[in-house]
Amino acid sequence: MPTHKTTRNGLSKGHASRTGAKKQHMEETVEHSKFHHLFMEELKDIYWAEKYLLKSLPKMQKAASSRELVNAFADHIEATKGHVSRVEEIFDMMGMRAATKKCEAMEGLITEAQNLMNEEEESAVLDAGLIIAAQKVEHYEIAAYGCLRTLASRMGHTGAANLLEQILDEEKDADSLLTQIAESSVNDDALMA
Ligand SMILES: [Fe+2]
Repeated sequence: MPTHKTTRNGLSKGHASRTGAKKQHMEETVEHSKFHHLFMEELKDIYWAEKYLLKSLPKMQKAASSRELVNAFADHIEATKGHVSRVEEIFDMMGMRAATKKCEAMEGLITEAQNLMNEEEESAVLDAGLIIAAQKVEHYEIAAYGCLRTLASRMGHTGAANLLEQILDEEKDADSLLTQIAESSVNDDALMA
């Protein structure tokens, strides 16, 4: 027979600890659902961003002059298609239908790229501007996917965290490639001067 000591408020210690555990469990559940909500909202944001980027990259590719940059945009169009389908896979893993939420940041970054293409003629200068615009996009995506991956692993969604890590690595590769192109084109221009 359990012998619970009675506490000052008249409840047994066993009852008090059960109530405490229940309260803690409820707090954890609420916290988990808030993290879940944040994760899903961020996922909808990056889903919109990737789809919008997919529409915009061909215009950037068309405006680029250097073969290397044209190829880099072509590769990134293919990579972005893969990101869209992996994000859809993550929605699926979470038992949710894929949905978008407008990403003001991506819209702004693309508007800047668009303005640049309207202002500059095709040239090495436009190429440099396109690299800047594309790297700003990559840095936004790197931040978004890094945070999503951290949230996913914190909530124990290992499969989603792995897919997010794969996308993150590809965004980092795209960013490094753009840096290499920028550096080599600066060197080429220096040689021609
Ligand atoms: Fe992407």
